[in-house]
Amino acid sequence: MTFETQVVQAAPEAHATPLLILVVPQGVLPASLAALDKVSGGALSRCYAAGDFRGKKDETALLYPDGPRPRVLLVGSGVPGEGVRGALRRAAAVGAKRARAIGVAEAALYVVAEARGIASGEDVGQMAAEGAAQGAWHFSAMKQPPEEKKGDLVRIDLLAPADVGGSIRKGHQIGAAIAAGHMLCRDFQVLPGNHFPPRRVAEAAMEIATRHGHGITVLDKAAIVKEGMGALLSIAQGSAEDPRFIALEYKGGTGAPVVLVGKGVTFDTGGISIKPAPSMEDMKYDMSGAAAVLGTFEMLGRLRPKIHVVGLIPSAENMPSATAIKPGDVVTSHLGKTIEIVNTDAEGRLLLADALSYARRYSPACVVDIATLTGAITIALGHAAAGVMGTDPGVIGQLLAAGQRAGERLWELPLWDEYRELNKSDIADVKNSGGRAAGSISAGWFLREFAEAFPWAHLDIAATAYTERDDAAMAKGPTAMGVRLFSEFLLARV
Ligand code: BES
Ligand code: MN
Ligand code: ZN
Repeated sequence: MTFETQVVQAAPEAHATPLLILVVPQGVLPASLAALDKVSGGALSRCYAAGDFRGKKDETALLYPDGPRPRVLLVGSGVPGEGVRGALRRAAAVGAKRARAIGVAEAALYVVAEARGIASGEDVGQMAAEGAAQGAWHFSAMKQPPEEKKGDLVRIDLLAPADVGGSIRKGHQIGAAIAAGHMLCRDFQVLPGNHFPPRRVAEAAMEIATRHGHGITVLDKAAIVKEGMGALLSIAQGSAEDPRFIALEYKGGTGAPVVLVGKGVTFDTGGISIKPAPSMEDMKYDMSGAAAVLGTFEMLGRLRPKIHVVGLIPSAENMPSATAIKPGDVVTSHLGKTIEIVNTDAEGRLLLADALSYARRYSPACVVDIATLTGAITIALGHAAAGVMGTDPGVIGQLLAAGQRAGERLWELPLWDEYRELNKSDIADVKNSGGRAAGSISAGWFLREFAEAFPWAHLDIAATAYTERDDAAMAKGPTAMGVRLFSEFLLARV
């Protein structure tokens, strides 16, 4: 999918476009739209006077003004309860999603001054770019085109008034880079298991690295054996698809790197501890952590901030077969600790354990892993937030703040000592499942056993990486959870 936004310095009443999207706050017709209302034959004031539109969150009205004026789509940003940035991002997304449904190839988006509130020009540019991409994204590459196919939405012009044009442009540059990473992440997430096995994940990483000049190392199965990644290999051994271990490096700065680790299970059947059939198809999303890391490296390549970042992706397919790992088997991890695999469906933590151990060689400033790790995180937090836990309150605090700015909320779960007991094995150093109680926390504690010698935090995105319901601002399916969060986290450290 190709979609982009660009900033155009123009007043809304002076810009030619097949669809003019206006982001307006809750209330009466904004005074700043008087000129547009006039050249539109009073279409806007008639809509408001009829009581058809009040600018509530997600509310839209499509107008066909008299004369030569194009369609106008009013989009309400509501009363910004949890911050104007989120309200603007969401309204831009709703507008872009409607624009795609209407079928225009291009549109213009204007955030009226009254909707900006306390948001800076930078915020407006960034949120408009992020929101437009979020709403415009779709995936139809595997369907025959419909017979009455209209043009595809390829561009939205962000209209900027002269007084704030410079700052909107500055914010847009950041937002557009994040948006590109966000869209790419969803493109990867949505691919089914047969189209995106570990070797394709490696190819995707290679493509991004080549395009941006990132450093990249890809370990194939033989190299993974040589490296001693026994935990990753134990999951991969049940599949006809060989594993890959991918290391990306962006060296925009010279300091100790931030290391991002993404779970790349390209399909999770559960292995011998097989999952039930209902919704098992969603387990194609089990590489969403890896996709978030790849999306972040797309952002880094476009924005080139002065920061040093390493991305690690352990990738495998979890299958039941004659060669699959069995419950009770004991394997030796990269770190040297032995693991009793009591449940082959707790595979993500095994891949991550070896990646966390591998991270030691970078002497990282901090390590943050991101993974669709536990169904239990849905029981704890629902779909409203991802779980965060870790060993460094500073890093966790930065992640919580970044999540707030990114509109990708996190909530911290405790890693108290008593939870460590849950992973105690009779036969090995540790077992890979601590049972149902505190399932997300025992998974976190398992990772902690391998996160030695650096500040570390873990994000459990199992409940937020994809959605099962279509939303006014986001198509159902992949959400790119983590790309905006990591972008805000990293850019705040520059
Ligand atoms: N990939 C799953 C977690 C998951 C569940 C992601 C639902 C998205 C939606 C993970 O590998 C898994 O199977 N976890 C098990 C752990 C258990 C066996 C200790 C789980 O959550 O049931
Ligand atoms: Mn699993
Ligand atoms: Zn999994």
